[in-house]
Amino acid sequence: MSKKEEDVMELARRRGFIWAAFEIYGGASGFFDYGPLGTALKKKIETLWREFYTLGEGFYEIETTTLGIRPIFEASGHLECFMDKMVECKSCRGLFRADHVGERCPDCGGELSGPQDFNLMFKTRIGAVSDDKARSEAFLRPETAQGMFVNFPRLLRFHRNKLPFGIIQVGRAYRNEISPRQGIIRLREFTLAEAEVFVLPHEKSKHPRFHEVESVTMRLKPNYMDEELETTVKDAVERKIITHEYLGYHMARVQQFLEKIGIPLAKLRFRQHERDEMAHYAEDCWDAEFLSERFGWVEIVGVADRGDYDLRAHSLKAKADMSIPVTASKSEKMEEESRSLSVFPHVIEPSYGIDRIIYALLESSFHKEEVRGEVRRVLRLKTHVAPVEVAVLPLLNREPLVNKAREVFQMLRRHRIFAEFDASGSIGRRYRRQDEIGTPFCITIDYETLENDTVTIRDRDSMKQVRVSISELPAKLSCVCESIFA
Ligand code: ATP
Ligand code: GLY
Repeated sequence: MSKKEEDVMELARRRGFIWAAFEIYGGASGFFDYGPLGTALKKKIETLWREFYTLGEGFYEIETTTLGIRPIFEASGHLECFMDKMVECKSCRGLFRADHVGERCPDCGGELSGPQDFNLMFKTRIGAVSDDKARSEAFLRPETAQGMFVNFPRLLRFHRNKLPFGIIQVGRAYRNEISPRQGIIRLREFTLAEAEVFVLPHEKSKHPRFHEVESVTMRLKPNYMDEELETTVKDAVERKIITHEYLGYHMARVQQFLEKIGIPLAKLRFRQHERDEMAHYAEDCWDAEFLSERFGWVEIVGVADRGDYDLRAHSLKAKADMSIPVTASKSEKMEEESRSLSVFPHVIEPSYGIDRIIYALLESSFHKEEVRGEVRRVLRLKTHVAPVEVAVLPLLNREPLVNKAREVFQMLRRHRIFAEFDASGSIGRRYRRQDEIGTPFCITIDYETLENDTVTIRDRDSMKQVRVSISELPAKLSCVCESIFA
């Protein structure tokens, strides 16, 4: 473990962000729980994500089951293709993902077996014993996407048979990862936030809002180049580095979201999958990768063009035609004479791994610095994702300071500002506690407050304090709870 990851995970454990699941029973790799501050951080990211796609793109959100019956995954290809290659150490019997190890066992140096396919889905049974495999065999979903595909006929009707439209879903996904050893980077149960954008194939080349993102500069690593290049989305689409405007638009939007919530652009790139790396359903795929000090480049969001793979497959399997009639002119000579065609919509899918994004935010916002001979640990989280928005601190744990501080605390909560009240220990220690959990502002109630109803606001990053009157506080602090995507 690098020192930085050790420090970040130690802080995350100690201050109630992330805990090993079932810790009192010894835990199990690939399973983590979020404590109070981790949950608050995660919910804020999820809320911002929802706003980004609902308010920003006009997409609707749905919520589908986390368990799916066998035919879904037969059609989607997950039963046949959602495999990793597994190798076993002949000495210590350790199991590893073949593409994560070299020729010898990373634990004992022993010889490894030849690779075997291992399906990553967790299987379970519905109801009591039954011979009807199609109805009784179930799988925990490995992606939220299938719930949106199998509802496509109803979603299309909901959208009054008009394309394009987008649907989002946020929820748990499950993958029986072979050997998860990277903390919350590789989990067996994790949170996905996915958007499925349904669009007719011939309409992918033009996105109606492309002009809004065309000048966004991105760092790209196409699969046919050894180097990375930095260019605008417009240039990348014009040069066919990115195949069409729909994909380019959604990649740029992914970057905008990540930047807004605090992923440093200097640590972000988009890497195109190699042809032999692409998921079984993908025509094209670009991963947004975060440069971790501990893990190197880590995929945090996948942006795929799934073509018509899923709707076509479910149409065949379920015998429910999900193609759309379109009118196309037969030939130039017979322009007036048109014929009716039927095509399957294509799907562009940004798929965000929320847990990996949380790790990336914690790692990149964590700083350890020396201030006046003492170590200061600070999480420089963006104001709108910080789990505690404001801390209210009486200078001393004494009346009437405490009483006055409680009044300020209640007033902030009434203004929907999530404040924490802390009166214990020296003021310096309390500031450091708040710095560690990323609280952007500390309000201190001192003796001057009692005279003129003013308090100090301390800024986490500059550590500078300004004095303001209590009545001005809600307006001054409104930045902590206002929507950044509305
Ligand atoms: P990897 O190659 O790292 O196994 P993947 O290519 O299988 O990842 P996707 O199938 O594209 O990942 O999943 C979409 C997103 O879900 C990823 O960008 C990632 O953020 C997240 N994700 C995937 N697998 C896991 C996991 N085991 N634990 C946590 N997050 C995950
Ligand atoms: N839905 C995208 C993925 O699971 O990779």
